[in-house]
Amino acid sequence: MEKFQVSLKKVVDDSYEICIGEQLADQMVDDLASGLVGTVNKFAVITDSTVGPLYAEPVLKGLRARGFTGDLFVIPAGEEHKTREEKARIEDEMLGKGYRRDCCVVAVGGGVVTDLAGFLAGTFARGVPFVNYATTLLAAADASIGGKTAVDTPLATNLIGLFYQPKKVYIDLAAWRTLPKRQIISGMAETIKHACLADSQFFCWLEENMDKVLTLDPECCLEIAKNNCRIKYEVVMQDERESGLREVLNLGHTVGRAVETVSNYQLMHGEAVGIGLAAACALAVNAGIMPAEDAKRVCILLEKAGLPVRIPSYVDVDVLLKKLYTDKKVRNGRLRFVLPEQIGKIYQVADNDFGYPVTEEQAKEAILAIS
Ligand code: GLY
Repeated sequence: MEKFQVSLKKVVDDSYEICIGEQLADQMVDDLASGLVGTVNKFAVITDSTVGPLYAEPVLKGLRARGFTGDLFVIPAGEEHKTREEKARIEDEMLGKGYRRDCCVVAVGGGVVTDLAGFLAGTFARGVPFVNYATTLLAAADASIGGKTAVDTPLATNLIGLFYQPKKVYIDLAAWRTLPKRQIISGMAETIKHACLADSQFFCWLEENMDKVLTLDPECCLEIAKNNCRIKYEVVMQDERESGLREVLNLGHTVGRAVETVSNYQLMHGEAVGIGLAAACALAVNAGIMPAEDAKRVCILLEKAGLPVRIPSYVDVDVLLKKLYTDKKVRNGRLRFVLPEQIGKIYQVADNDFGYPVTEEQAKEAILAIS
């Protein structure tokens, strides 16, 4: 027998900058022209049908004006299009247009676009660089940062994907003013989640300022974007690959992702997370982990933001319960929930373990409590 040792130890530096401001497209084009992603001169600008004309076309124009080659690749707007099929369609289009390893993906849009485009970049020609230009509050608060990329499948959301970090993230606060109110409200769920899991002061600030936040007061928007990035990064920098601590960012997502799928995407992601947060609080109170008073404050804040805190009547509770088992935190067939201990703190089950084991009966009790 012959044996070979393949030594592949490496030190990887995937650090990158997040730039928060208004109208950052020119800044992004300048950065790309100045070598942000090396000597690449072919850019695949991936966007959706809503954002394309507003933000992606000017980016493409800017790149072409600098002498670069580029094309627009458009997915239809909506979570139901974050699929393997859409990813494959764009890949085939890119291949047909001569894109190979020497290109860069520029994702311009909300969470659907940044998730799908990041996943595509991670697998195209075994990985090409990508940058995110986030135009929604949801993408700014969560999806565009942290390197989780994915597509949905009929079974559940985000089951197929990669950890793949962008080269830079641009958060355009001016874009929030073009969003429908429902999208802003949906984006607030991840913000409330972050406050709940890590920062009671930020939670109080949200309680005091929610009315102003919903009018998209510029100072409030900046405050929100900064706090979301800070809270998320304090976690991601310690546990990029979710081997423990990063699970806390799943707060509200066990019931949230399940109800989003079972609603057939009638619920927007943030609306589903609002319901998921209410369910996690109900569970935590029932388990004697969280004071009822804190849980009440969370639900009041969610409602103040305009988010739902109850399971819609068209959702079948038994179907929802079964769907909980598609959650990535399930271990040995057992449900595990991230639960708040108090506002600003997650309950730690054991060393590096934040998934509280929950029986189906406990999950049902919590779900019925908010039905
Ligand atoms: N959205 C949760 C995470 O990024 O880990």
